[in-house]
Amino acid sequence: MELLDGRKVSKAIKEGIKSEVDKYIAKGFRAPHLVAVLVGDDPASKFYVKSKMKSCEQVGFKSTNMSIDKSVSQGELLEIVENLNNNDDVDGYIVQLPLPKHLDVNKILEAISPEKDVDGFHPVNMGKLILGLDTFVPATPLGILEIIKSYDIQTSGKDVVVVGRSNIVGKPISICLSQKGYPGDSTVTIVHSRTDNIEEKLKSADIIIAAIGQPKFVKEHMVKAGAVVIDVGINRVEDQTKKSGYALVGDVDFENVASKCSYITPVPGGVGLMTVTALIINTLKSYKKKYESTK
Ligand code: GUN
Repeated sequence: MELLDGRKVSKAIKEGIKSEVDKYIAKGFRAPHLVAVLVGDDPASKFYVKSKMKSCEQVGFKSTNMSIDKSVSQGELLEIVENLNNNDDVDGYIVQLPLPKHLDVNKILEAISPEKDVDGFHPVNMGKLILGLDTFVPATPLGILEIIKSYDIQTSGKDVVVVGRSNIVGKPISICLSQKGYPGDSTVTIVHSRTDNIEEKLKSADIIIAAIGQPKFVKEHMVKAGAVVIDVGINRVEDQTKKSGYALVGDVDFENVASKCSYITPVPGGVGLMTVTALIINTLKSYKKKYESTK
């Protein structure tokens, strides 16, 4: 069994990006700029945004954290989005999810300019993903693809089972891995809360991607010997032995599953770190597009 080390892969990608950014700056261009819009004070969202900002700093990007009061109206948030669309100093931005219940998340995401939608959540970008056109692949699926590439994991002809059908992970990663080319050419099954015989389907998988947000859902008896297991879950569970009172665990019962796998991602230290790095990849892509179009 080999660990898929998100920290190592992220570090290598970020070093490459930093040296690209340094070259742009040396030529007199401004730094790439990512903005995160954070509505309210959800602790998990605050943590994620902070780590996104920290990664920007590490690669020489400018970053702005726009903290907005949770009472913001739909109209006010749409105005903030519109201003970001029109701000030439901003290459990409994200609206951190989840949003407070009174806001219409789909309307907000649709208002983001597809050219600056580095999360890849806009319907136009999702549509391009399905068609195999150049787009911003959403951060978590892109992070998974980068890990697969980095460890040269074979995907062609493999049976992949994706656990969870969310718009941000399950659906897009299933599309990516069934596309032609590498990483792709897989036969993908999505399983979810209404699927019969989940265990049997998992047992037949060469590659399992677990993204349902249920602590330790994937157990040892559900995994084929030699399978590749990619764990997207980051769940807080009570743990009085920790100073914080909780521990982070994935959607996979790592302790019991790991020895059966050929490769597995740890939690933390796996996909979570890659997700932030993927956002940096998308922001650089947006920045480069802008300069390439003005050459
Ligand atoms: N909340 C959980 N994951 C994500 C993500 O990738 N992007 C945004 N904007 N919000 C999230």
